[in-house]
Amino acid sequence: MGIFSATYASLLTNALSSITVTELLTLGFGILLVFSSYLNRASVNAPFVGYRSWFEPTFLLRLRFLTNAKGILTSGYENKYKSGKFYVRRIDGDTLILSNNYLEELRLFPNTVLSNAHAQYQNILGKYTYASVVLHSTLHTQVLLQQLTPRVSFYTLRSKAAFDHALYDLMPRSKEWVEVDIQSVTRSIVARMTGAVFLGSAASRNEEWLNISIQYPMDTFQTAFQLRMFPKFMHPLLARLLPSRYRLQDHRRRAGRIIQALMTEHKRKVKAGIQTEETLLGWMVDNAVGTEGDLEEMKSRQLVLTLASIHTTALALSHAFYDLCAHPEYVEPLREEIERVSKEFQGDDFVHHGLHRLEKMDSFLVESQRFHPPVLMSPQRVAMKPISLHDGTYIPRGTRIAFPSAAILMDKAVKADPFVFDGFRSYRKRQLPGEKCHHVWVQTGKENLAFGHGKQACPGRHFAAAEIKVVLSRIISEYDVKYWAGQVRPKTFYLDENVFPDPQAKLHFRRRGQELSSRKES
Ligand code: HEM
Repeated sequence: MGIFSATYASLLTNALSSITVTELLTLGFGILLVFSSYLNRASVNAPFVGYRSWFEPTFLLRLRFLTNAKGILTSGYENKYKSGKFYVRRIDGDTLILSNNYLEELRLFPNTVLSNAHAQYQNILGKYTYASVVLHSTLHTQVLLQQLTPRVSFYTLRSKAAFDHALYDLMPRSKEWVEVDIQSVTRSIVARMTGAVFLGSAASRNEEWLNISIQYPMDTFQTAFQLRMFPKFMHPLLARLLPSRYRLQDHRRRAGRIIQALMTEHKRKVKAGIQTEETLLGWMVDNAVGTEGDLEEMKSRQLVLTLASIHTTALALSHAFYDLCAHPEYVEPLREEIERVSKEFQGDDFVHHGLHRLEKMDSFLVESQRFHPPVLMSPQRVAMKPISLHDGTYIPRGTRIAFPSAAILMDKAVKADPFVFDGFRSYRKRQLPGEKCHHVWVQTGKENLAFGHGKQACPGRHFAAAEIKVVLSRIISEYDVKYWAGQVRPKTFYLDENVFPDPQAKLHFRRRGQELSSRKES
């Protein structure tokens, strides 16, 4: 679960707001101790960026990376090393930042040579957050690549039903303006939509599972974030003291009961030749080899999937709403497109064929993510073997590697007027001859790394895009949305390479009394 670089940002939103004073003090103590920590140190011949002077101690630079990763990465990229390599110093070790010129060469390496899973395992300190399962096998990515993505419309229909069912429980029914905590609402919507696909339609209404699937990633992040402030040798002891880790254990116990019941029921029906609702869990049970099929592994894998999928998707949705409020001139063209496409493709056809036709919406999402990517460095990898690159660069085993994805997206050599929000940038490019199938949100490339790139790029992105378009289509059609008078786009916060919006930010919604044509028919 390379999962987690992307997930981090959204987890921070709530993780931060729930850190207690004691935890903060603990954190401060840890920061002091970090001097003595054993760190993953630089081993490639490349400069370190970010020092304010020759005299700045390294621990200060590491501390500054916590809150100013954006400045440090941008200065490395813009000022000198755009087409080369440099190091950044995070509190828990050094990361080699490579130009995207190296991507073509590196993207084809399998995870046995350059591993996303190991990078994310290090990010979330998987040993203490029960994520070791991702190092044992790739069943959780196989299920997405072999089952979810090829049948994305089939599964999106089910998640759409979960969303349609939940909408008015989560969003206001009123035609007056109502304040909405959009980050919390999008998390609940996505948890329901994802639960329906991972565990089955009933799971999308199972409050206990929904709660676990939202809280588990937050407690994982909180545990990892706190431990990372401390030297490695203290982790075994501290991990026993963290309240967030006790909560993780409780989530796991409760998740185990739910998943065991579902696995038993699935196996019983398969044995008896009774038709079962197709779910990703069912696919994994049927395709598990050896210990992959054990409850303990299955439960961990399922929780890892919630970690990868819910907050990332909810965060992208929230950003889309913030951007709509900041640029309200896009609302009408998007509504017009939604209305046209939903008239042309009614009922289930809206999902099967209509979602692809929402080209303006797709373009708007590309731009929204360009301005607000979930992480500043993506993809991230750990070298599992020594690698020699075409220009003679030698990367020893164990080196952490990342690409300066956010800086690339704001490079004027890559995008014209990069600081102008142009929601239909990609749409216009797609109208050029031969370009219809390019510039699409889920298409990763050298210059679009927000979903990673190459063999280990996000395997859930096609589903994420479909879910987001389903939600946006309906909410944009049925609701007006705005900031309150005097309010501006919520501030963006950075913690290490993770990007997240102000957790307190609220929006105002009111129902318009309009319904999508596709809904009236369905
Ligand atoms: C807008 C939403 C999402 C964003 C921005 C996002 C972003 C990412 C990124 C940047 C990576 C790392 C890729 C790389 O290193 O090359 C990743 C990996 C991953 N994502 Fe997503 N993701 C999203 C939604 C989802 C969803 C909905 C799922 C599941 C249905 C999912 C499952 C995964 C998994 C399992 C991995 C790990 C792949 C591996 O280790 O090989 N993601 N995601």
